[in-house]
Amino acid sequence: MGIEVVVEGLTKSFGKQNIWQDVTLTLPAGEVSVMLGPSGTGKTVFLKSIIGLLKPERGRVLIDGVDMVGSPERDIYETRKLFGLMFQDGALFGSMTLFDNIAFPLREHTRKKESEIRRIVMERIEVVGLLGAEGKLPGEISGGMRKRAGLARALVLDPQIILCDEPDSGLDPVRTAYLSQLLIDLNAQIDATMLIVTHNLDIAATVPDNMGMLFRQGLVTFGPREVLLTSEEPVVAQFLGGRREGPIGMSEEKDAATLAREQLSGGGDHAGQPRTVVPQLEPSPGMPVRQGALRRRERVLGMMAQLPEAARTAIMRSYSPAGGGVTG
Ligand SMILES: Nc1ncnc2c1ncn2[C@@H]1O[C@H](COP(=O)(O)OP(=O)(O)O)[C@@H](O)[C@H]1O
Ligand SMILES: [Mg+2]
Repeated sequence: MGIEVVVEGLTKSFGKQNIWQDVTLTLPAGEVSVMLGPSGTGKTVFLKSIIGLLKPERGRVLIDGVDMVGSPERDIYETRKLFGLMFQDGALFGSMTLFDNIAFPLREHTRKKESEIRRIVMERIEVVGLLGAEGKLPGEISGGMRKRAGLARALVLDPQIILCDEPDSGLDPVRTAYLSQLLIDLNAQIDATMLIVTHNLDIAATVPDNMGMLFRQGLVTFGPREVLLTSEEPVVAQFLGGRREGPIGMSEEKDAATLAREQLSGGGDHAGQPRTVVPQLEPSPGMPVRQGALRRRERVLGMMAQLPEAARTAIMRSYSPAGGGVTG
């Protein structure tokens, strides 16, 4: 089962540039979470901070008692072995076959025999649907296949925490839909704690149990998917609605005058439209029930009193028998 990741008061700057401050959230064990945010808000920096590759000035990232910010480097190195990372660009070696790319972490970090390596690699290749392509070079396959190869490589060391940096970048909508299903199926199979960084609205709407958003050097909010999907917080509503109207501008935050003009003109075409919460993806037929989803159901039902009305309604609907939610 996956491990909980507790982030407390995390603050990161580069020189004088503050990236975000006081980020506090918990990735619940075995659940799937998504972090949204416009480009440049520090999502990749956040992932790198969680695995201890970047050092925030303040705060802690607690995993199994180890603080990825302040614990001794040896402990951080050991804890990092619990992670599987899927990078934005796939980060495959161009001169190696998919098989060798996926086998790389095993050859690098373990002393397993080649026969054992072969068994593990082929198993992961099957999980991501790349059987038959193992002899190909990254340059010979599509972007979607490269993503899946990157995911297979993230899986070979049996990670308990999986971090995916924009798994959809460069993929068309159909490939993105397949990848979304793959991520849910994967979670059902291995029950790992997953954090996906993306600005893809379809992934945000259908994949995660929980969602958060980085904006203006901070975490706008983090919580059950229904909270963000029904949120009236302007920046969240603008982002999830894919609208021009709102605090997020073309290249930076809008100034107060522009925002005021938008408000006067009624906030644009979409203002006031009710937001619908589409059902979360279920594992494919034949897959195990997601244990994370079962735990999440108990967790969320236990926090209902603290949630906004719209989120409560959406949660009740998804967990009612007709809502198509998790059964059992
Ligand atoms: N190693 C680094 N040194 C200095 N600045 C960095 C470094 N890494 C990222 N940044 C800066 O941090 C900001 C956030 O970057 P990033 O996390 O890549 O954003 P996102 O992934 O949300 O698009 C950017 O302004 C970027 O230039
Ligand atoms: Mg990034």
